[in-house]
Amino acid sequence: MHEHDVIVVGAGGAGLRAAIAAQEEGADVAIVSKLHPVRSHTGAAEGGINAALREGDSWEDHAYDTMKGSDYLGDAPAIETLAQDSPEEVIQLEHWGMAFSREDDGRVSQRPFGGLSFPRTTYAGAETGHQLLHTMYEQLVKRGIQVYDEWYVLDLAVSDEETPEERSCHGVVGYDVQSGNIEGFRARDGVILATGGPGQVYDHTTNAVANTGDGVAMAYRAGVPIEDMEFIQFHPTTLPSTGVLITEGVRGEGGILYNEDGERFMFEYGYANNDGELASRDVVSRAELTEINEGRGIEDEYVHLDMRHLGEERIVDRLENIIHLSEDFEGVDPLEEPMPVKPGQHYAMGGVETDENGETCISGLYAAGECACASVHGSNRLGGNALPELIVFGARAGHHAAGRDIGEAEIPTGKRGEWEAGDVETPVEPGAVEPSVEADATGGDAVADGGSGPDPAGLVERATERAKERVEALLDNEDGRNHAEIRAEVQQSMTENVNVFREKEGLEQALRDIREAREAYEDVGVADQSRTFNTDLQQTIETRNVIDLAEAITLGALAREEFRGAHWRKEHQERDDENWLKHTLLSWNDGSPELWYKPVLLEGENKRYEPKIRSY
Ligand code: FUM
Repeated sequence: MHEHDVIVVGAGGAGLRAAIAAQEEGADVAIVSKLHPVRSHTGAAEGGINAALREGDSWEDHAYDTMKGSDYLGDAPAIETLAQDSPEEVIQLEHWGMAFSREDDGRVSQRPFGGLSFPRTTYAGAETGHQLLHTMYEQLVKRGIQVYDEWYVLDLAVSDEETPEERSCHGVVGYDVQSGNIEGFRARDGVILATGGPGQVYDHTTNAVANTGDGVAMAYRAGVPIEDMEFIQFHPTTLPSTGVLITEGVRGEGGILYNEDGERFMFEYGYANNDGELASRDVVSRAELTEINEGRGIEDEYVHLDMRHLGEERIVDRLENIIHLSEDFEGVDPLEEPMPVKPGQHYAMGGVETDENGETCISGLYAAGECACASVHGSNRLGGNALPELIVFGARAGHHAAGRDIGEAEIPTGKRGEWEAGDVETPVEPGAVEPSVEADATGGDAVADGGSGPDPAGLVERATERAKERVEALLDNEDGRNHAEIRAEVQQSMTENVNVFREKEGLEQALRDIREAREAYEDVGVADQSRTFNTDLQQTIETRNVIDLAEAITLGALAREEFRGAHWRKEHQERDDENWLKHTLLSWNDGSPELWYKPVLLEGENKRYEPKIRSY
């Protein structure tokens, strides 16, 4: 069994920052990741990092823009923490050598992004995530932090007291993709999940194939509530044939959206009379799809994003990567022609419920980055707020897990008697799976250690044995159903029914399709019998996570009878603060999801953020 003080699961921006922070506190920290760090999905982030760095800007304005962008569903303590800490974190990155784009006078450049009242997005060309990842990887190497890369975490080792709030996490079980070995990792002080989002729930997404929401699904099955899962961001500018991201930075630099008639529709049809193309993402995505649905799209599928007027010199200087992406993936030279773009799944606002220190309700278990929900983004994330979230909350989780006192959290986690129970009528009974898969549901079991609580090493050992049994069962069912077909059915249904525009009938259809996928998964098997680099096996296990999270997204969406941020409902086209100014929580309860709600925290250190009509 491997043993460390802190184990970080995932090696993207949040994971690297968490590991560095824990090491700064003197902890023996290790990262366990299914990818090599520089192959993590953070590397695909293009546009930038919001931070109030300049004169004339302030963290208070950043916090206000973020709360407004969230459509008043973000929690003020988390939002204010993000806005307060991000300048220091950006300066730290700069000191570590990150190659930010700069002005002629040497200052780090900043550009406008959607929904911001000040051009506060720092960037490195159109490859900000790539630069950020490499900068932090250098720090990892310099500090000698151990990385178990190409180790896929199968499960958490969690004790099994009756309520999640009484449980504790003592490690993880890892599957070595190179050798097929399954081994336990004991964490003496804490496990930090930093596994990214669940983009693979959809088939048109900017996300990498690795983004299967593993950490969210594992935490959920271990009893941690998952929060606001129905809020999925659809980025307005993705390439139609692949979903590859074309950064909001194009519009930040002055790029313009046109419909088939050559109209600048954001203004022409009054979608956002002030900010036009730089309205927040939910607004622009709805506008594009309305154009397409009303017959003003191009080939009934997309709109045009034109940046030719910016001139070659500026484009090459600030957005060079976009020229290559557009040429390589769509065959369009954006210096000569407008790019075809349409909305595509990009980000999950929801995730593992945490407080602003990254702690979940299970002691010793943390989450940071896209897999977590603190909640900074509420019902809609502003562009440029994901990367600061990674570094701010990655650092906080790392420091806290390693024992530094960073202050008492204000955001409550876990289920409380006073929280409201939820209710949703569904066409099928959600949840519940076959016993061989269910065996990993909570990951651990408490064993008295001289009457003083769980035996951590024993918990990790037993979780490891269960994971081995589960993998053997999958390999034994050589002729079982193939994961790829099951996953594709879920992805297609989610893209069709749980997209930008949602209605009851479609959401119910998605739940029926997910139910069918679950039933098919009961007979899932793995044809590839090899023990080395068995991607068939890994993807089969990931598909379980895709199914569980697709269900969570859809259940939350069906239950939420209002229009807020990225969640639009045909039958309920108004924001309803009286009934719906609350967070959706789902707890995995005896193999099926239990819905409940907790209040939004609008009271911050700076002020109370009273909900207003949100217009751009
Ligand atoms: O458009 C972009 O460059 C994406 C940025 C983000 O999601 O924050």
